[in-house]
Amino acid sequence: MIKKVSHIAIAVPDIEEAAKFYEQQLGLKMSGVESVPSNKVKAGFIPVGDTRIELVQPESPDSPVARFIDKHGPGFQHLCFEVDDVGAELARLDAAGVRLVNKTPVDGAHGCRVGFIHPAATGGVLVELSQPPDA
Ligand code: CO
Repeated sequence: MIKKVSHIAIAVPDIEEAAKFYEQQLGLKMSGVESVPSNKVKAGFIPVGDTRIELVQPESPDSPVARFIDKHGPGFQHLCFEVDDVGAELARLDAAGVRLVNKTPVDGAHGCRVGFIHPAATGGVLVELSQPPDA
């Protein structure tokens, strides 16, 4: 079951540089940066009310986010919904013939288990499903 928008992710070449706009001009605060090896990125989260902006920076030239920036330039990269059971959601979508990037969950940031739905199935937007560790 979809519970809420977990975060909105923006691909950037440099997290610290990108965070300056959100911190200095919008008065928001990035709450920490961590590596996410499953996607070869580092991610910094900026809380905004009940949701967050995720800044994602490639840590390797073969990261999907590096390919995204090569193709589209920096900018909006994915939308993430929080779910209560990511494995069940991916299995349900797979059975329904929805094109998935991950058919089974992988490790995301903050101990979340996540899976991505291919943009071809969603109207052009990469969609992440994320199950928090306490769900
Ligand atoms: Co994300």
